[in-house]
Amino acid sequence: MHLKLLLVATLILGMGYGCASQTSPLQHKQRVTQSNVAAGAHIYQRYCSTCHGSRGDGLGPTARHVEGPTPTDFTRGVFKFASTARGTIPTDEDLAWTILHGVPHTSMPAWAGVLNHAATGNLVQYIKTFSPKLLQQDPPTPIVVPSAKPRATLASVQRGRNVYLLAQCWQCHGTNGRGDGPSASSLKDEVGNRSIPSDFSLGQLKHGNEATDLYHVLVAGVEGTPMLPATLVMTSEMGEQVDAKRYLPSSDLNAARSFASSLMPSDEFFNLHEAKQNRLMEGWRWDLVDYLQSLAKPSGLLRSILGLDPLPTLYGAAACEVGERHTSAK
Ligand code: HEC
Ligand code: HEC
Repeated sequence: MHLKLLLVATLILGMGYGCASQTSPLQHKQRVTQSNVAAGAHIYQRYCSTCHGSRGDGLGPTARHVEGPTPTDFTRGVFKFASTARGTIPTDEDLAWTILHGVPHTSMPAWAGVLNHAATGNLVQYIKTFSPKLLQQDPPTPIVVPSAKPRATLASVQRGRNVYLLAQCWQCHGTNGRGDGPSASSLKDEVGNRSIPSDFSLGQLKHGNEATDLYHVLVAGVEGTPMLPATLVMTSEMGEQVDAKRYLPSSDLNAARSFASSLMPSDEFFNLHEAKQNRLMEGWRWDLVDYLQSLAKPSGLLRSILGLDPLPTLYGAAACEVGERHTSAK
């Protein structure tokens, strides 16, 4: 362990995804020092090593027995839960956020009730010592999600549904967002472990439930997994490419095709000024977010905004079943 290496982490408080409404566990800049690492190591061996391994390689004694994704191998320096761009390292805030909130639908517990902020901060510094990348590099500035989200409307949910079909999200996440698309069972992450596409009906998502959390995933993707950043260049040609006949009722297919025919052809899109292209993509991303949120039963936020009890009939049987499986709204 090279504790001599001083890593001055740039903490951009409150900018991390999902962090907006949380109080920060890291109130001041911390760095890797002998004393916080020693304190972190102690807590780590007690609470974390059983899954993540005493060397941080994800091979603790319990690791083989957990359901769902395997415990993260910290030595690779690849993190799914990061407010920063794909291919870069997470901020200290991101690591603290994951530790405190846990990862829903996996064996990773939420430690908020067990660990106080000081302990969490020390753990963050200790985890960094497993990965040369995290020790040596400063994290970049987090991705900034545009703050002005357009209001969700029935039309935006419908557009989102069409974007979802045309952009092939259903291949992995399923035609109704239940995580059961035709490719779902064969997906692997970078190291060959099974990768499980999210089920949007569950309500509680791994990366947070706020619109900005979902938007962030669309921009950054999920590092190390087949979930790539969604480029979302939506053009009229896509109508011919959408081939979900086996999976989709023709009314859905027709809606997606007719949406495509309302879009511009790709040569026209690429002739637009970059700022204009980005604005269009931003709009489609928010549409997708509205659609994905409409699949979750939870607070009925969208439903109440939209007076939306027709939702089940709009998106078919899957949306009707959503209720039973949902446990808690954020
Ligand atoms: C019962 C097993 C288990 C225990 C105990 C556990 N974890 Fe985890 N942890 C996991 C699993 C599984 C994942 C992967 C979740 C995923 O990939 O979706 C994970 C993910 C993480 C991540 C996110 C990595 C990323 O990709 O961004 C961090 C950080 C983390 N754990 C820290 C800790 C710390 C710190 C402790 C101890 C306080 C701890 N974990 C205890 C199972 C565990
Ligand atoms: C090649 C398969 C694949 C495709 C195509 C795909 N995804 Fe994903 N997606 C995944 C996987 C796998 C995960 C889960 C990653 C993880 O956390 O382990 C995921 C996670 C997500 C999440 C995070 C959910 C959470 O629990 O926090 C969102 C949001 C998402 N995808 C949206 C989309 C959208 C929208 C599209 C289409 C533009 C899309 N995905 C296309 C595989 C895919």
